[in-house]
Amino acid sequence: MEMMLRNMFQALGKSRSANRLAKKYGLRFGAARFVAGETIKQSIEAVSKLNADGRVATLDHLGEFVFSEAEAAESADMCIQTLDAIASSGVQSNMSLKMTSLGLDISKELCVSNMRRILNRAKMHNNFVRIDMEDYAHCQVSLDIYRELRQEFDNVGIVIQAYLFRTEQDIADLNELKANLRLVKGAYKESPEVAFPEKKDVDENLKRIIKQHLLNGNYTAVASHDEAIINYTKALVQEHGIAKDRFEFQMLYGICEDLQKQLTEEGYKVRVYVPYGVDWFGYFMRRLAERPANVWFVLKNMFK
Ligand code: FDA
Repeated sequence: MEMMLRNMFQALGKSRSANRLAKKYGLRFGAARFVAGETIKQSIEAVSKLNADGRVATLDHLGEFVFSEAEAAESADMCIQTLDAIASSGVQSNMSLKMTSLGLDISKELCVSNMRRILNRAKMHNNFVRIDMEDYAHCQVSLDIYRELRQEFDNVGIVIQAYLFRTEQDIADLNELKANLRLVKGAYKESPEVAFPEKKDVDENLKRIIKQHLLNGNYTAVASHDEAIINYTKALVQEHGIAKDRFEFQMLYGICEDLQKQLTEEGYKVRVYVPYGVDWFGYFMRRLAERPANVWFVLKNMFK
């Protein structure tokens, strides 16, 4: 039953017509628990609330299904406006983005040129941009683009997913770039030919790559709500005397709030991933697919 629900949410998240319909009706079905709002203003207000108790943020302007150069340029403009809004409001936040929303599926060159525009603006504001990792089909090209941009920019990082078999090698290869990485378990449905099918193997691999990247001396964002992973990281940094400014914990907006606050109180840097925008549906479906127990929460909200 759980697998059926997961597959259904994954498929709905990819459906263009479901996304279009959702966009028309605005944030519904309890999505506001996971998505900070539809406008930049609402997202900045959400970050400001997180900052008030010491948490920092990474803002993500949600954009899915970009099929034209104009749409990709519009999406890049939104990222630039977001960076400007972060700077003018003074909130503590950087940005995360998905390269498919910047035209990656149209051409690599288009995407790189949009990325350059965004990174230049981020640099002007002394800010940082993180490239989210999407499904396996985009993995190699995303890493290629990251390598290319990293030659020019030091304010860019990327995400690596522990569920992929290739990951340990990627971490080793990225060491020469002193890459700032966010390490995650991985959110997409991938074939057993490329990814560990068993959760326990993914969990073990995440621990392995956290250790590998931290002990290589690189800045590491451990993005997980899993207390076993968090406790593992705490013990590892203590054992190796790794300072608290060499890593951070990251969690998603609306998930495990108490844990976020507890870690902040313990003196760890906690960054909350704050998505916003009218294209909220795909992101919302991925969060439900991760945890079908959230469905009860959705059902309760359907009738509100
Ligand atoms: P796990 O799935 O084992 O969950 C551990 C516990 O966390 C659960 O028992 C539950 O209590 C809580 N939890 C987890 N997910 C929940 C949910 N949706 N609702 C309610 N509770 C939940 N993936 C990717 O492929 N590319 C990317 O770029 C990113 N970026 C990213 C940024 C940040 C800041 C985070 C935290 C995560 C991502 N991810 C991601 C998603 C990641 O790959 C993974 O799917 C989720 O974080 C869930 O895995 P956990 O590590 O939390 O563990």
